[in-house]
Amino acid sequence: MMAFEVWMKTVQADMEAALDAYLPKAVPERLHEAMRYAVLDGGKRVRPLLVFAAGELCGAERAVLARAAAAVEMIHAYSLVHDDMPCMDDDALRRGKPTVHVKYDEATALLVGDALQSQAFLILAEAGVLNAEQQLAMLRLLARAAGSIGMCGGQAIDLESVGKTLTLPQLEQMHKLKTGALLRASVLLGAWCGESKDDAALERYADAIGLAFQVVDDVLDATADSAVLGKTAGKDAADNKPTYVSILGLEASQALAAKLRGDAHRALEQFGEKAQRLRELADLIVQRKA
Ligand code: IPE
Ligand code: IPE
Ligand code: MG
Ligand code: MG
Ligand code: MG
Repeated sequence: MMAFEVWMKTVQADMEAALDAYLPKAVPERLHEAMRYAVLDGGKRVRPLLVFAAGELCGAERAVLARAAAAVEMIHAYSLVHDDMPCMDDDALRRGKPTVHVKYDEATALLVGDALQSQAFLILAEAGVLNAEQQLAMLRLLARAAGSIGMCGGQAIDLESVGKTLTLPQLEQMHKLKTGALLRASVLLGAWCGESKDDAALERYADAIGLAFQVVDDVLDATADSAVLGKTAGKDAADNKPTYVSILGLEASQALAAKLRGDAHRALEQFGEKAQRLRELADLIVQRKA
């Protein structure tokens, strides 16, 4: 089996090409340039990696996976553009570059997010290789994960929680929605591109890594450097956001991430060697430094 690092670099390179191909080159030039600025040349591409890893487990074709992965990465990129705007987290740095509203302007950032969301659903709706029933199921999945009962809902809870102390169940709910929902959708989209194996087991895996991802994001915000993160460190505490670090403390947050990694591994047991990439991604999500 290809080393994980090599596999990851290959998927990331394929994604860069797919995203480039799926972003329109059209007028108005400034909007399209800003969309490319938001999406291309940056980010860890964790969601596409999950799509590919789940897809490979389920025997999906790479071209189909690239399309599904591009769709979910565009939703993610849109969420970051809006998350950074002054009305939300008011951040100036993202993926090591000035945020879209800083580089361009606020109205452009708003439109970049809107347009990326539409583009995501368009490329998924156009997928020619899948049958219509599969496509509809995937569109529904992504729409649910991105909307008010998914990512947007989580972002709303995040904003209304500033300065408040959440209970652990409330915090978990917020994280599951704002970050977990898209990660879960990535795993299932990948699986549904092929012969889906055991959705319940994959959902258990996805729920564990989805929560772990945001727990680690909170930990890194409190412990890493802006230069390494490519975004402003220490921002959660400065903004008085409830996070796993503020509520559980650093050590308990790290222990929780490690526990969730174990949950993720256990969920994959029945798949044996074929789920190796998903295991490696769970490890990456918990052990990452940025
Ligand atoms: C950051 O996501 C926002 C969260 C949902 C925590 P990532 O850490 O995946 O950001 P990129 O895509 O690598 O920049
Ligand atoms: C954002 O969470 C989650 C999204 C839906 C974009 P954060 O606000 O913690 O993400 P970062 O730390 O700015 O990347
Ligand atoms: Mg935020
Ligand atoms: Mg933010
Ligand atoms: Mg954060």
